[in-house]
Amino acid sequence: MVRPNRSPKGLFDPYYVPERLLHRDRELETVNGIYRDSIEDDFGVNCLVHGISGVGMTVFSRFFLTRLVPEQFNSHTVYVDAKHKDTLEIVSELNDKIHNETNRPITVAFDLDVLWMQFKRTASATDRRTVFVLDNIDETNEEVYSKVARLSKEINASTIGVLNSHDYRLLTKLPATHMAYDFEIPLDTYTQSQLYDIVRMRVEDTFPHQLTEEVIRYITDLVVEFDASKPKTTIEALKLLWPLASSGQEIDSDAVRNATMSITSFAHDNDYMDLIETISMNDYMTLLVLEAMCEHLMRYKTETYIDRQTLNELVQIKCEELGVRYGSNDIEKSLQTLIFQSIVFESGYSRNLLYVLAPPEIVYDAAIGLRRELARRK
Ligand SMILES: Nc1ncnc2c1ncn2[C@@H]1O[C@H](COP(=O)(O)OP(=O)(O)OP(=O)(O)O)[C@@H](O)[C@H]1O
Ligand SMILES: [Mg+2]
Repeated sequence: MVRPNRSPKGLFDPYYVPERLLHRDRELETVNGIYRDSIEDDFGVNCLVHGISGVGMTVFSRFFLTRLVPEQFNSHTVYVDAKHKDTLEIVSELNDKIHNETNRPITVAFDLDVLWMQFKRTASATDRRTVFVLDNIDETNEEVYSKVARLSKEINASTIGVLNSHDYRLLTKLPATHMAYDFEIPLDTYTQSQLYDIVRMRVEDTFPHQLTEEVIRYITDLVVEFDASKPKTTIEALKLLWPLASSGQEIDSDAVRNATMSITSFAHDNDYMDLIETISMNDYMTLLVLEAMCEHLMRYKTETYIDRQTLNELVQIKCEELGVRYGSNDIEKSLQTLIFQSIVFESGYSRNLLYVLAPPEIVYDAAIGLRRELARRK
């Protein structure tokens, strides 16, 4: 599908809101329902949105605020990102934005109490309901959140606090909690296929040409396996791939490995020679399987996986060339060893698709070196 309005904004703007928020229907319905009730019955309601960092909290709250609320309700909306801001900055941003929303002239002030009074007066005076979103609540700004949330109750507005799981536990589980909220909306991590949909849609929105299915799967596989399926990590990878793709470069498996280096770097410290030597002690077959697999991945750089059938055939050919006899189970047994040792991985989509984490050249060199040595010794 070609979209005329492709723009890298969807990768580089941290506040970007996509056309559709995928796989969050249930949570959106919940927050929407709560808000609708609060309007119909005329009371203020506060909720907390939380999840692991990078799961999509900001986009969830912004999607509700900038898409769903304006579509259905005649409300004012105010979004403030509290990250790295002190109390004065947060209150003055709230104050600016509510004045802007309600079209009221603002009197310049630099004193916290004065700013708060101005904010309170303007927020209370409006004839419409207001939804506030305060993103990135933590220990340093929880008091501002509580204050806004309490004010919301007084003036029949609503405040949505957004915070990551760590701060959520820290702030809501303390006995003396001041966190004022009525509901919470936990955001779960995505399944493999859901994350794939998100990556695919973002590629369609932002890349000059579509990436291959294999590349999108490979990114998703790596992030599900090594980074708790956080959409944010997939977007970070796409950010690194975008300049290459837009300069006309073909995105192959090397490029994906480079772009996901930050989550797989632990594996690159592996001494593959050592690792492979240990598992393949006298195990000629396992070395052959690894060699055949890497040869294929080195030859076809845009193929990020090899399927079991192809691998079987390649190993068969190798065995015939070398005059090696083997049983029908041997290849699978070798693969199990390699998978168990985290040298080879099965795709989350299909057990049939296999991939490596290290550049195949490195694994190949280790495997072929050891196999030759083994052959010499025999
Ligand atoms: N359901 C979804 N549909 C489409 N895009 C999504 C979805 N969930 C997350 N994303 C995208 O994933 C990226 C990360 O999301 P977001 O910035 O909201 O994460 P976060 O949980 O707020 O992270 P942080 O811990 O950095 O605050 C964004 O580009 C966002 O648009
Ligand atoms: Mg965020």
